[in-house]
Amino acid sequence: MKKYLLLLATAVAALLSCQESEKALTDRVFAVAARQYADMEASLSETTLPRTIEADTLRTSNPTWWCAGFYPGSLWYIYLRTGDGNIRAMAEKNTRKVYAETQKARSHDIGFVTNCSYGNAFRITGDTTWRQPIIDAAHALATRFNPNVGATRSWNFSAKRKKWLFPVIIDNMMNLELLMEAHKLCGVDSLRDIALTHANTTIKNHFRDDYSTWHVVDYDPEDGSVRMKCTHQGYSDDSAWARGQAWGLYGYTMMYRESGEKAYLDQAEHIASYLIGRLPSDGIPYWDFDAPEIPDALRDASAGAIMASALIELSRLTADRNAAKKYLATARKQVRTLAGPDYLAEPGENCHFLLKHSVGSLPGKSEVDVPLTYADYYFLEALLRLEGKL
Ligand code: GLY
Repeated sequence: MKKYLLLLATAVAALLSCQESEKALTDRVFAVAARQYADMEASLSETTLPRTIEADTLRTSNPTWWCAGFYPGSLWYIYLRTGDGNIRAMAEKNTRKVYAETQKARSHDIGFVTNCSYGNAFRITGDTTWRQPIIDAAHALATRFNPNVGATRSWNFSAKRKKWLFPVIIDNMMNLELLMEAHKLCGVDSLRDIALTHANTTIKNHFRDDYSTWHVVDYDPEDGSVRMKCTHQGYSDDSAWARGQAWGLYGYTMMYRESGEKAYLDQAEHIASYLIGRLPSDGIPYWDFDAPEIPDALRDASAGAIMASALIELSRLTADRNAAKKYLATARKQVRTLAGPDYLAEPGENCHFLLKHSVGSLPGKSEVDVPLTYADYYFLEALLRLEGKL
């Protein structure tokens, strides 16, 4: 028995010594990122940003697309780690492309667009040139708040198109970061109040007993009552769409960091425990935790990256040391899988995106098993958080 244990320990030690160190892994990923994103830049015009791959070619978007902030955001992250002046110039140029989007709230996505671009520009450089658009965008987002509902409206889909009157999606938790950030910058309390009210309303209405979340909750804007709970991008109204769960985890973790409200930490820990319990062994979720094709269902690298970044942050915030270890171990596994050959592109391939295999909207037959800018963004963020640079 003793002999076997000794053999096992030797084998484990040998395996561990073969494993690439986290520092080497991070160096490798950022080297690929710097090269891919610099090459990506050559394919863009003054008004376009990368979106995904379609028919083996790069598909770009204009700055009105909800993901327009992620490419400049990733460039800021690459700059943060490498200090490369050329990358910084690209980050500045691509941040400015979305300026007009910071001035009006077409949807709740003004939070994603502004916080990832201008928000990072300001946080990383400290240059006040980038400050005012963050405040402007937060005020624009606040106009979408309805006090009867206690939430900001996500989409403007008309009742005719979707039978919704005031749709709020779990993704919207992410946009509260813009309100909290602007509150710190300009001191307007109503921005913080709106963020907290939205987070409280979402705890009340979006979560099931097991802490999985519905994607969409539609409200009556007159009296704030819940009209329906359903999905738009998940497998079914009752399923757990992977990215939605990841947005919820990240959103409540961020809201606890920003507000210190214990209810948000508790919510994030419940969500984390639900998610960790349902992950496949390599840590990258299927596109929907209830997809009927599992184990042959597609994975969603973007959900894995968002979750990893959130879990690293949560591990720093929780007082429960055992839970912190579990969050960190899960995030490390996710990051290693994403940095492996199944997900990480070789330089020059993947139309210069970093990660392969994300799912935008499978029911909408849009962006299925492709690279997506937000998968890259949250993957880089997770690595920077692991290193303590964020
Ligand atoms: N917020 C849209 C998405 O996660 O697809």
